[in-house]
Formats: sequence, C-alpha cells, structure tokens
Amino acid sequence: MSELNGIALKILSNGKGILAADESTATMTKRLASVNVESDEKNRLIFRETLFSSRSMKECIGGVILYDETIKQKASNGKTIPELIEYNGGITGIKVDTGAKDLAGSIEEKITEGLDGLRERLKNYYNLGARFTKWRGVYIISDNYPSKLSISSNAHALARYAALVQETRMVPIIEPEVLMDGNHSAKTCFNKTSEVIKKCFEELYLNKVDLSGIILKPNMVLPGASSKEKISNDEIAELTLDCLKNSVPGEVPGIAFLSGGQTEIEATANLNKINQKNNTNFIMTYSYGRALQQSALKFWSKNVNNISGTQKIFDHRAKMCTLAAQGKWSENLEN
Ligand code: 13P
Repeated sequence: MSELNGIALKILSNGKGILAADESTATMTKRLASVNVESDEKNRLIFRETLFSSRSMKECIGGVILYDETIKQKASNGKTIPELIEYNGGITGIKVDTGAKDLAGSIEEKITEGLDGLRERLKNYYNLGARFTKWRGVYIISDNYPSKLSISSNAHALARYAALVQETRMVPIIEPEVLMDGNHSAKTCFNKTSEVIKKCFEELYLNKVDLSGIILKPNMVLPGASSKEKISNDEIAELTLDCLKNSVPGEVPGIAFLSGGQTEIEATANLNKINQKNNTNFIMTYSYGRALQQSALKFWSKNVNNISGTQKIFDHRAKMCTLAAQGKWSENLEN
C-alpha cells in the first residue's frame, strides 16, 4: 500500500466520513447571517472548535476539511486546530482552490482558480499539518450546459491541482460538483455527471496522478431541485451507482459524496441506500458540509455558550451518517 493510499483509506474506512468545514469567510458569513450570528473570527472559531472537539470525532469523522483561516487558528486549550483534529483521531485537510470565477468564453459558467503559486502554498499547508486537500469544480445543468469548454477546463485544473498535491505527499480530493439547481430530470443529471467525471479521469491520467491516492467527491444523481420529477431513494442509489461504476476507474479507493443542498435526512437516506446496493469495490461515504452542520448551527445560534448541547446535535448527525455509510441507518433511529 502506498503512503497516499494509506491516508485515503484511514480517512474513509469503517464507516468514517469527512466533515467539510472549509466554507470560505464569505460563505461562512452567509451561513452565520442566516441564523443571526455575527461572522467574526472568534465566532467562526467557536463554532468550528465545538464541532472538532465533539465525541463523534473519534468514532465517525476520519478527516476534516479546513479553510485557510482555520488551519492557522488555535483552540481554547492552546493546541493548534490541526493538533486538536489529530488528537481526536482525524486527519486534517485543507481547501486549496481560490474559488470559482466566471469562465471567459462561456460567461454563465465557472472555472475554479488557484493554480498559480499552488506548489508553495501546499508546502506551507503540509507544514501546518494537512495531509489531504480539496479543490471543487462546479458545473451547471441546462439545455446547453455544462459546455464542453467548462467540462474540459475544470477537468484540466483539477488534474493539475491533483498532480501538485501528490508531489507534496498529500491526498487530493477531486470534487466535480454538478449542481442541483434547475428543473432537469435525474436522467439528465446522470448523463452530465457521467460526462464530467469521465473527463476528469482522462485528465488525471494524462497528468500521471496515482489514482489509488485520491478521493473522488461527486454529487449524487438527483432530479433538479425545481424539477417536478419525484424519484425514490432506491432509484437515486441505482442511478448514482450506475453512473460511478461506468465512469470511475477501479484503482480509486473511495468516493465521498457532497450533500449539495439535500436536507440532512435526504443526504443520509440516499447514502444509506447507496451502501445497501453497493455492488462496486469502492468505499462509499460522506464528505458533507451542510448535511452535517445545519441543525448544530441552528441550535448553537440560539445560545452560543451551549457547547455541549450543540455537540450532542452534531454527534447525532455524524452517527447517522456513519451508519448510512455502512448501510445500517433507518429513519426510526432519527428519534
Ligand atoms: P455540502 O455537503 O454542503 O454540499 O458541502 C460539501 C462541500 O465541501 C462543497 O464543496
């Protein structure tokens, strides 16, 4: 087993998943504004430290993705945040893209930036304790989109990022997110997601990325958020598994889904079905942001001093996701 494969497996094995707490300051400010909490450095740290020191970290969370601000912060006991995560049994990850910008040549679409100076930034993050990284490409669905230009430009950037990350002995998360927005069918999401993922692997291969040392973070195959189509968790799981079986090479050790705007329960129920039906060799787990944090954030915002109450809510969510990552969740466990 290579060093990178070992890190990927340590993050994803035994029902463990990833806590995505890498919201940029702008995104975190929106999340905090939605629950009427002021977004200053101190509040962002208190909420995140609350999650990173909760009991479920040891049992459920194999890795935490941080934002640049957080990886440099110290917890209240004096440990750095990466030390706190490691103490609680997790591996530290870091978002290294610098955001999605308008794509010249197809202005309604986005290209993710951050390659300039990346090699040096990666070395710094390694020295701060990071052992895996994240880069998110984002794609919209409509009659004409995603365009060939967006599919190939984002795949190229993801692959160049991944090659640099492996050179620095960290595991790259490859996140091509086909957004849920729109009224498209699940079949359309299936086709577009397949095309996007296949192109990513074409570029990863060209850039000589070791596929046994990456984690793929895709969207599930779902009907658009404003579509009238209603499909069951079984159908979502089958479409998602078919899509991944046909587009992901067998060397990839694991797939950790994003939640992408699904509710906490939807994201849990769908992951559970995916694992009950998983007929691949891939580990299938979670790398959730909103679907792990939403209820905890709402509770915390009512009383920011109620740390243990907030942790109880987070622990429950993490436990449910970890059961789903083993196909052992059922709705009655939610109560
Ligand atoms: P969500 O689970 O909220 O989609 O966030 C995951 C993530 O890391 C998006 O880049």
